[in-house]
Amino acid sequence: MKVSQIRVNGIDGPLGFDYGTPRCSWLVEGASDETIAATRIEVSDSPAFSHIVHTVESAPGSPLDSAATPLDFRLEPRTRYHVRVTATGADGTAARGEGWFETGKMDEPWEGRWITPSEEDNRRDDGYHPEFAREFAVDGPVEQARLYICGLGLFEAELNGRKVGDEHLTPYTGDYDREVQSIAFDVTGMLDAAPGATNTLSVRLGNGWYKGRFGLAGKEHLYGDSFRLVAELRIRRSDGTETVIGTDAGTWRYRGSDTTFSGIYDGETLDRTRWAGGDNPWKPAVETSVDATLTDRLSLPVTVHEILPVREVVHTPAGETVLDFGQNFAGCVAFRSHLPAGVRVTLDFGEILQHGDFYNANYRSAKSRFVYVSDGREETVAPSFTYFGFRYVRVTGWPEGTPLDPADFEGRAMYSDLRRTGRIDTGRDDVNRLVSNALWGQRSNFVDLPTDCPQRDERLGWTGDAQVFCGTASYAMDTAAFYRKFLHDLRGDQRKLGGGVPGVIPMLDPHGAAIGAVWGDAATFMPTILFERYADKTALRETYPMMRDWIDWIADNDRERGARYLFDFCPQLGDWLALNGRTQQSMKGGTDDFFISSCYWAESTRMTADAAAILGLDDDERRFRDLYGRIREAVLREYYTPTGRLAIDTQTGYVVALYSGIYPDKDRLVEAFRERLYKDCYRISGGFVGAPIMCRVMADNGMGDEAMNLLLSHDFPGWMHCIDLGATTIWERWNSMLDDGTCSGTMMNSFNHYAFGSVVEYLYRNVAGLTALEPGFRRARIAPMPDARLGHCRMSYDSAYGRYRSEWEILADGDLHVTVEVPFGCEAEVRLPFHPDAAETPDAGGRTVVTVGAGVHGFTYTPTRDMRARYSRSTLFKRMLADDEAMAIIARETPMLAHMLVNEHDEDYLCDSLDTLGVKFFMGFDDATVARLADALLALRA
Ligand code: BGC
Repeated sequence: MKVSQIRVNGIDGPLGFDYGTPRCSWLVEGASDETIAATRIEVSDSPAFSHIVHTVESAPGSPLDSAATPLDFRLEPRTRYHVRVTATGADGTAARGEGWFETGKMDEPWEGRWITPSEEDNRRDDGYHPEFAREFAVDGPVEQARLYICGLGLFEAELNGRKVGDEHLTPYTGDYDREVQSIAFDVTGMLDAAPGATNTLSVRLGNGWYKGRFGLAGKEHLYGDSFRLVAELRIRRSDGTETVIGTDAGTWRYRGSDTTFSGIYDGETLDRTRWAGGDNPWKPAVETSVDATLTDRLSLPVTVHEILPVREVVHTPAGETVLDFGQNFAGCVAFRSHLPAGVRVTLDFGEILQHGDFYNANYRSAKSRFVYVSDGREETVAPSFTYFGFRYVRVTGWPEGTPLDPADFEGRAMYSDLRRTGRIDTGRDDVNRLVSNALWGQRSNFVDLPTDCPQRDERLGWTGDAQVFCGTASYAMDTAAFYRKFLHDLRGDQRKLGGGVPGVIPMLDPHGAAIGAVWGDAATFMPTILFERYADKTALRETYPMMRDWIDWIADNDRERGARYLFDFCPQLGDWLALNGRTQQSMKGGTDDFFISSCYWAESTRMTADAAAILGLDDDERRFRDLYGRIREAVLREYYTPTGRLAIDTQTGYVVALYSGIYPDKDRLVEAFRERLYKDCYRISGGFVGAPIMCRVMADNGMGDEAMNLLLSHDFPGWMHCIDLGATTIWERWNSMLDDGTCSGTMMNSFNHYAFGSVVEYLYRNVAGLTALEPGFRRARIAPMPDARLGHCRMSYDSAYGRYRSEWEILADGDLHVTVEVPFGCEAEVRLPFHPDAAETPDAGGRTVVTVGAGVHGFTYTPTRDMRARYSRSTLFKRMLADDEAMAIIARETPMLAHMLVNEHDEDYLCDSLDTLGVKFFMGFDDATVARLADALLALRA
């Protein structure tokens, strides 16, 4: 047995975080026949465990939960706690693992004081950015040194000329009126302890979210209009003495830095010649104060991950030089400068080329520009106080005589440090590209908070976007700590609204907050998904008040309107960006807003009742179950005809009905959904509500084949269509780019918006087939849906309890091979499709259920349905056009159909399938004819 990966709050060796009640998780690996009889966690403030401050011991026969066991004891500030987990097997052998977490300043008063430049310097309008500094001696060997620091808007600290830590955009986002995060760094190795040596701690500040231009109104100084800094450097020497160097007005000085402009949206200017005239004296810092609470951090570090080389230097028709990094992403560009003094280079960022030329009009007012003025020094140049979302970089001002060597440039993908947990690979490049695009969407929009987009003048925490993508994101990465910060901030803003949940955070104007369903349901859906993934009850308890207050807020408002139990008020965003709105560019889709919002209210209420049950809040549970029943009744009354027909005849309408489980007759609903799709020629019309869950819901309701048709469709609109047009991330709109490669509009059009990428959850849940039966996947279901069009699918997921794998492959001889892996201590119900031992059922594909424990299990069998079949009954005839064999069969059996497809190119027929051809009985497609055609077409093998 082996115990490893000991984490606290889902983070590896966290330093200076706000832990709430810390939760410890670990991984146990062992042989499948091993079991754990007992677990013990010991927490010590010494690495040798000589002094134990807390012990958690399992009750006999019930080992501690390795996904999340609370460490409920009184934490001391600035203390490193070592955690040792011992698991004892039934045979008495023990395995041990160790980890640690360290507290920050907690509630301890700061010795450092907030400091700022003079009033006059803060008011300068020449782009003045300060750099603060303090010199000091260490005198004696250092045992440990920590820097606790917060600089507003953004800070970058250096010790003896080296950047402290590898983080960017500190102290990150949040409601700076309420609280600002301090960041703790281990700087032990950065000090010069030699006798008489001078150490310098310097800190440069940028504008950032705090005082730069930000938010939908594009205003400056949202939270403050002057630069501020607080820091405390604590040096513990080997002799036990401690020195504290805190910011103060007496010993800290400041002067202008070389940064002359900075903004999240607009970019940065680094001018090495700025002070060439010499007029930049050190001045004494001024003491100031900040009203917001200085807290320990919740934000994960934003660091550089992938390094992207320049793929191509493009010389555009407009005569410009553009670097193509081959991938849309968020971060920055760094380059090696050998530029002569006085040269001014400008980098502009864009996502696409239009007619071969640089283009970024879709960034709207965001200038997204980095400017560098050289003083002749050689250095690696990169911005400090901004980030960009881009694939292309236009370089202007590069001197004629100096060749631009692409090897001197690199793209740096920057995002929050999350552990990758999910991987999925199929036999199709386009599907793999889609998975990659969604992952890049996640990387690009996980820059401290889940944003809508990383490039234009938004980059905001739109709650609806976060909600719809949460499930997908949490397969791909361990999102527990990342979303904990987001939900903490969301709760803060919710309080200002008395329970209403804003559509976007940070909420800059409570009066204008858009409170509505789907977006607001982030408050209930996200904690539910997180509990399902991480089995962390403490986290659920933290977020429960937010869930409860959201449901109550809607209920209170409904009561005032006469208790109709419908969420039929508030301006709703509805099925945002669906294509069935008034026009294809309309933001609002065509599905009834209040049907969506009422179903989501019901679903949220059910989730809140479930959460109450888990937390043992019986009264709440009863109350919410009762409320759920009433909402359900009201939805059935309002939106279904007396005989059970759904009155909202749109794709999203059916998807939402099936998803929420509110319907009188499921078969009837599915039939009507099929009919709708038929009428829509199988073109997806769903927006932010319908599209993310569409394939999942279809596959869960016996429409697996049609779901795959939809996913793989290369026609407009659709996921593969975007890929055909060169997408390397997910687009905001189905038609963000038109077929001629131009941007469809600049009003609201991003090429890196992950909402539609939520379809990837369908690949994990349905195609690979992994879902949780118990929180954290302690028990899981693996029900793969093999499909000849994918050839194979290989998925792995590092759950809270360890790695699951689900892989299937359709072999050349027609056999199906399924491999599953189940982690230690877990159990999976494997549902083998079209298994000979199972009774054939049209929906579930005749699945045989096998329950397996930990380990790798392989199954090879001859399925009852030939999985190699080239086509199914739902394949559209247009998919057969390029297939001579299929077309010959069609010409032979149904010449009229062949004529309509080939000669007339009739969309109505092209969008027919064996399933629907009978509708055209009036053209002679009677049952017997269709059956003959089916026999021949379905016999074709892939
Ligand atoms: C954002 C969206 C967001 C929407 C809601 C847009 O501007 O980019 O993703 O959810 O507004 O109104």
